[in-house]
Amino acid sequence: MAVRPTVIWPDARLREPTVEVVEIDDSVRALYQDLCDSMYAENGLGMAAVQIGDNRKMFIVEPKLAGFTDKDLPIAFINPVVLESSDDVQDSEEGCLSFPDIYIKVKRPMRTRVRALGIDGKLFEISGEALLARCLLHENDHLTGKLLVDFVGPLKRQMIKKKLQKVKDAIAEDAEA
Ligand code: NI
Repeated sequence: MAVRPTVIWPDARLREPTVEVVEIDDSVRALYQDLCDSMYAENGLGMAAVQIGDNRKMFIVEPKLAGFTDKDLPIAFINPVVLESSDDVQDSEEGCLSFPDIYIKVKRPMRTRVRALGIDGKLFEISGEALLARCLLHENDHLTGKLLVDFVGPLKRQMIKKKLQKVKDAIAEDAEA
């Protein structure tokens, strides 16, 4: 159980191919726990394993957003598959823990349906609308190496790169101090 540092873009680990989880064993449960701790430490709505430097196909979503209560545990999505997405879209600003303080307008389907393995090893399906659909699709993008900057042009991408390089330098300085 540990909060792990969030991998901030640009970092090659965010583009690494992800691998299927073959068995829900202790190491997967430990990864889930670290993901929960790391997401809550950053007040995130969701977090993918690649964001804490692990390339297994897994992400979590904050329980309230997923239709449960805040007393429930975050929902794990292991080896997720997007079954369907609606043609009607939503267009609003999106953030990502790997892009601190960056918000980008991203067009997403209004509704989606995802199938995944839970941390209990059981297959489940969840339908999401609006913010939940956005979150599910955003986290699922992480498992294919797709990131917020892929939704902007080269100029804006360069701007974001400069800004985040400063953030990363500041974190490195803090670590040295
Ligand atoms: Ni993200």
